[in-house]
Amino acid sequence: MSDVHNIAVIGAGTMGAGIAQVAALSFFDVVLFDSDTAALDKGKARIIEGMQKGAVKLQMSGADVAIAQARLTTNDKLADAVKDRDLVIEAVPEDLALKRRLFTEIAKAAPETSVLATNTSSLSVAAIAEAVADPSRVIGMHFFNPPFIMKLLEIVRAPQTSDATYERARKVGERMGREMIVVRDSPGFATSRLGVVLALEAMRILEAGVASAEDIDKAMEHGYKHQMGPLRTTDLVGLDVRLAIAQHLHTTLGGDQYRPPQILERLVKEGKLGKKSGQGFFRWEK
Ligand SMILES: NC(=O)c1ccc[n+]([C@@H]2O[C@H](COP(=O)([O-])OP(=O)(O)OC[C@H]3O[C@@H](n4cnc5c(N)ncnc54)[C@H](O)[C@@H]3O)[C@@H](O)[C@H]2O)c1
Repeated sequence: MSDVHNIAVIGAGTMGAGIAQVAALSFFDVVLFDSDTAALDKGKARIIEGMQKGAVKLQMSGADVAIAQARLTTNDKLADAVKDRDLVIEAVPEDLALKRRLFTEIAKAAPETSVLATNTSSLSVAAIAEAVADPSRVIGMHFFNPPFIMKLLEIVRAPQTSDATYERARKVGERMGREMIVVRDSPGFATSRLGVVLALEAMRILEAGVASAEDIDKAMEHGYKHQMGPLRTTDLVGLDVRLAIAQHLHTTLGGDQYRPPQILERLVKEGKLGKKSGQGFFRWEK
């Protein structure tokens, strides 16, 4: 199987835009697609801004940034976006039915040899793979937020994932400068299980009035050397995304530790989704 040269990223939200940015900076030709054209434009604008801000860190000249930006295009037709791609990375909301429908469509339009990856944080990669005729080409490539800063790539192998698919995904991770871990397909994998338990417990502590959001985060930052506390991290992830993951883990793995706290359900209902909406556990300036 040949190496991956070009990539389509499906979904231009928090993760899709970040993954597309890292891919273009890693010299891949990238097409970004979103079913919502406003989200597509917003995602592209965020990538351009992110590249400009990150140029100093990467010691890139203005010309280098312009070249990296030229490697990234957008397309508002799914079939066109994937038709000649070696790798398709899906980053749409955490909804199994939605992802399965999308994978069926992508598999029909993309070349038969392409790798189809999902950025799901918790859903069964095997269940997503069942939606395509050849499930051996499907794999989990779980990036972290924001991908430009967070180097971890959790590679999730479903029972159907072929060795060739795994090798091709791993090489892409290497070229993107990722620190990789490989996990068996299981709800929440390794990272989301650990991250969600801590975040939900922090919310229960807040809900019970034991400490303020600031102090809970400070405890983990200064007492346990976490770079960012669990509540601020949840604001960055998106409260809706965290809730969807917690609900899925509670249903599939059971156990009170994954039961979503009322405060999380209430804030999501009120549209307080974290950084992306301007308010979550903390207030975020635009
Ligand atoms: N937010 C995080 O920190 C984080 C981290 C790792 C993984 N993930 C996972 O990444 C995925 C995306 O999460 P996100 O936070 O980027 O979500 P998001 O809500 O920020 O973005 C999702 C994007 O998908 C688009 N979309 C919806 N339906 C679509 C369709 N049918 N076709 C194409 N685009 C469509 C939306 O318009 C939106 O722009 C989820 O599976 C999530 O669990 C999220």
